[in-house]
Amino acid sequence: MSLVRLLKEKPDKVMFTTPSHGQKFFIYDKLKEMYKIDYSETDCQDPQRALAEAQMWASSIYHTYSTTFLTNGSTSGIIAAVLACTQVGDKVLIASNSHPSHFNAVKLAGARALTYDLEVDPEWGVPLEVRPEVIDYFLSRYNIRTVIITSPTYEGIISDIEEIKSICEKYEAFLIVDEAHGALYPFSDDLPLSAVNIADFTVQSLHKTAGGLNPTALLHTNCELDVRPALNLFTTTSPSYPLLASIEANIMYLDSRDGRKEISNLISRLDKIRERCKGCEFFGDDPTKVLIKVPGITGYELSDMLYEDFDIEDERTNDKSTMLLCGIGTDNKKLDKLYKVLSKL
Ligand SMILES: Cc1ncc(COP(=O)(O)O)c(C=O)c1O
Repeated sequence: MSLVRLLKEKPDKVMFTTPSHGQKFFIYDKLKEMYKIDYSETDCQDPQRALAEAQMWASSIYHTYSTTFLTNGSTSGIIAAVLACTQVGDKVLIASNSHPSHFNAVKLAGARALTYDLEVDPEWGVPLEVRPEVIDYFLSRYNIRTVIITSPTYEGIISDIEEIKSICEKYEAFLIVDEAHGALYPFSDDLPLSAVNIADFTVQSLHKTAGGLNPTALLHTNCELDVRPALNLFTTTSPSYPLLASIEANIMYLDSRDGRKEISNLISRLDKIRERCKGCEFFGDDPTKVLIKVPGITGYELSDMLYEDFDIEDERTNDKSTMLLCGIGTDNKKLDKLYKVLSKL
């Protein structure tokens, strides 16, 4: 049973149940269509079954042991993964600049964070990849239960996940990969290798680059540990079925010919922009993240210029460089504008 199909079928009963808006009382009419499909579990002919089936279908698309739909972002996936594989007092290895969810997850698990600093590229001002020898160094000296790494980084720097996984295996540690910014990777050979079939746990935010609604995300596992009990510790018993159905539709689109073509067009158009805009320098492993530098000006000056003179807002800036995030939804009109502006710099 598909969640998308389930929400299209209207129950013919007169329902005295939650939600009391009854799919008709549109307090905020901009979300009228959402109210119409906002059912609670008991109203909607066994959605638990539909959700379980949709997640099993998703797992077959990603070739994972399990894939769980998240409606509270990668944040919730990181927390659930850490809770699932870490006991009170265990050590967890994380980079010192990690997303707050990594630290919060360790705290909630009653574990202890061991941290290391990532090298920052002096020319670009962005953190570089996790070096496998650093992971080996820590795992060989401390009894570490779980390693969390972020790949890609915010700016699109990739770590050698396969190498890091084999080091984790050597020391019997779990590997969690925060791939929040890499949800498109399983759907194109022109993008970096996804961790979904390598790490024990991988989280991906669909809303960042993959066209999903805020804050939809996925938690993939490649081990037999069940993440559901951990998720149940802190997630609502009234999940949003419209958001869950949007996750199913999102994956269906990414895996379709149209979705793959859209990703491929985006990559080839961005490659052409990089090739032609000779006044800018580009960096990074992920072609959908336009990390740019213009000689003679700082990243902040570039960011201000893009904003004030060309109405372009970037995703993230440092002293040296500026990053413009692209993904599903970055249409040709936006890319034309980007080309026009960058070719003037
Ligand atoms: C590297 C990284 N991990 C995790 C997250 C959390 O993702 P979400 O917003 O889907 O909870 C973010 C959000 O910015 C992030 O940048």
